[in-house]
Amino acid sequence: MKIALYLLALLSTPLLAASPEAIYGKTGIVTSRSALASAAGLEIMKAGGNAVDGAVATAFTLAVTYPSAGNLGGGGFAVVRLADGKVVTLDHRETAPASASRDMYLDSEGNIIKKLSTASHKATGTPGSVDGLITLLETYGSLSIKQVIAPAIRLAEKGFPLSHDLARQFNKVLKKMEQYPESIKTFSKKGAPYEEGDIWRQPELAKTLERIADSGRDGFYKGKTADLIVAEMQRGNGEITLNDLANYKSIWRKPVKGTYRGYDIYGMGPPSSGGALVIQILNMMETYDVSAMGFGSAKVIHLMVEAERRAYADRAEHLGDPDYYDVPIAKLTNKSYAAQRFSDFNSDKASKSENIGAGYWPEESPETTHLSVYKEGVMVALTTTLNSDYGNKIIVQDAGFLLNNEMDDFSIKENSPNQFNVIGREANSIAPGKRMLSSMSPTLVLKDGKPFLITGSPGGSTIITTALQVIVNVIDHGMSIEDAVSLPRFHHQWQPDRIIYGKYGISPDTLEVLKKMGHIEFKEASRARGIGDANSIMITDSVISGIKDPRNEGAALAY
Ligand code: DON
Repeated sequence: MKIALYLLALLSTPLLAASPEAIYGKTGIVTSRSALASAAGLEIMKAGGNAVDGAVATAFTLAVTYPSAGNLGGGGFAVVRLADGKVVTLDHRETAPASASRDMYLDSEGNIIKKLSTASHKATGTPGSVDGLITLLETYGSLSIKQVIAPAIRLAEKGFPLSHDLARQFNKVLKKMEQYPESIKTFSKKGAPYEEGDIWRQPELAKTLERIADSGRDGFYKGKTADLIVAEMQRGNGEITLNDLANYKSIWRKPVKGTYRGYDIYGMGPPSSGGALVIQILNMMETYDVSAMGFGSAKVIHLMVEAERRAYADRAEHLGDPDYYDVPIAKLTNKSYAAQRFSDFNSDKASKSENIGAGYWPEESPETTHLSVYKEGVMVALTTTLNSDYGNKIIVQDAGFLLNNEMDDFSIKENSPNQFNVIGREANSIAPGKRMLSSMSPTLVLKDGKPFLITGSPGGSTIITTALQVIVNVIDHGMSIEDAVSLPRFHHQWQPDRIIYGKYGISPDTLEVLKKMGHIEFKEASRARGIGDANSIMITDSVISGIKDPRNEGAALAY
């Protein structure tokens, strides 16, 4: 209740439903994992900002109001369609520090040092988020950094009432922060647990945000904030230096583009695998009558699982940072390659993953976050992460923000499964300055050149299949945005050879049919609310509709 009142005070609009109902607007719309962050984006667009301004304001605010994934100390990817129709993508993924080396997480006998790539200062890649958000703003925004970052500063300084979900998360993560007094200080009341409704203030973070407001990227990558990051690294034997920070640059990359039944699909290229895989799977599905098979049918689940199996096997072999490894992206996203790769598909029988490729693929924790924004022809899909929830759990002392543990997305040892069971390959080995492979899949869909759908999700390897299912639900099954986002999802990732599904996602008799086809293992997703968190927007001639994925908190807000 306190939160709703607070939001009402913050907003001039009462459009606050965080329910499975879509929110409708005429001009602009934002959907994100935090109602306060969506409100910040809306406030900025109402003040005259465009969708890029709105997205940047939302992302900076997520670093304050949704700290497990919203971040200054992490990285992400953005896919943007401009008013003139051009589509651009910005890679602001973290980089391996200059001192990084292929075997940096191995002991002298070549064994993996437990938790070094996930729960230590050494787990952190040079952060890309601040450079990315400022680059987006300076290139395609219309307002100043001072204007768009103001809501984030206000919320960090004055604080906001903790929701039930945030208070619960803080109390759960405290155990993993025991060695880090600054993190305990941030996420508890001097060691005592926060409760729902407590006002949470972050004065150090507010000061860091103010330095960014005053000096742009130099407010983070140079001067006091950079000194604080390096001091934190030295305290914990981390790798990032002032040079690593000064040298960080986000990169404009060519979008990966595909088509599906007359729609144009734009996704993020490497070092994310997201765009390539979404397009590759759609290509394999396109010659089949998915609509006639019907949502949730054994036939359609089988078809999608078999396409996913092949695409994820290719991911392990071919995907990595394109500046370090020659990723065959044109081939992977090509329709004739998809036809060839899918030529052994049998519509009645499951194939065996060991015959499709070799290796394993990770299961990851559900903490990354995706936001979608639209206004006047401009579409923004932005996914950002610290990797694990709350990253490596380390708050930079006196700077108020968490560090990522993204280095673990590299293959830390060839042919050895890392914490998520992933086996390494050359394409994704560690090298100085290299970006670790991602699954993030911010995606735009256009029809006849006009905006149609904005989607994306957290969820590690399930990010790709979540975005895929929103697209297929809308295009093949003709669903509204609320049905397309809300209905249960399923996932297959080649290795382990298993279908994961959200609660109620596969009926018992459908399971029986799939088993008879030869699918061997099934697992209900361990998170009660299922797979993904796909905050999405649909645009038609007459109406803009958006939804906050009902699996989690947050809000779609429109005007
Ligand atoms: O970039 C990636 O693919 C991972 N670091 C994302 C991690 C993730 O999504 C965790 N949970 N949502």
